[in-house]
Amino acid sequence: MERTFVMFKPDCMERGLFGRIFTRFEEKGLRLAALKLLRITPALAKQHYAEHVQKPFYPGLEQFITASPVIGAVFSGPEVVRVVREMLGATSGLKAAPGTIRGDYSSSRQMNLVHASDSPESAEREIALYFQAAEILPWDPSLACWLQAPGET
Ligand code: CMP
Repeated sequence: MERTFVMFKPDCMERGLFGRIFTRFEEKGLRLAALKLLRITPALAKQHYAEHVQKPFYPGLEQFITASPVIGAVFSGPEVVRVVREMLGATSGLKAAPGTIRGDYSSSRQMNLVHASDSPESAEREIALYFQAAEILPWDPSLACWLQAPGET
């Protein structure tokens, strides 16, 4: 099954929104495969956001993402990369539609609460940045037979 990397960012942690937002992924029926509390270093931020390092907003982004602990997670499920991106909504909380996570809880371009991989290739790259293979535990909840029909992967 497809996997994605999700990061609950410092604003999410500081505002005490982790539980509420995590619940949305649980209720959607995504399968949790890994979870970790960590603090991002400037070096890790540059690796994670390599495509943004030259952008004018990068210095502020690095300061923000290293300011407090974050929680990294791996979720799996059918089409999970696209499903999670759509649950998050547009990058800016000012543009994200109501009903999406950012649309409901963020009013910022930078402080948009949660990061999620934008493609299956990015997901595998990001998962490898944050997790050792032994820290990832794919499992099917007993309820799996009520989450998808047979053959839906
Ligand atoms: P994320 O989905 O983690 O990917 C890149 C991050 O850069 C993005 O969420 C925001 O936190 C941040 N970002 C993107 N665009 C801007 C912007 N115009 N100004 C400030 N931060 C931004």
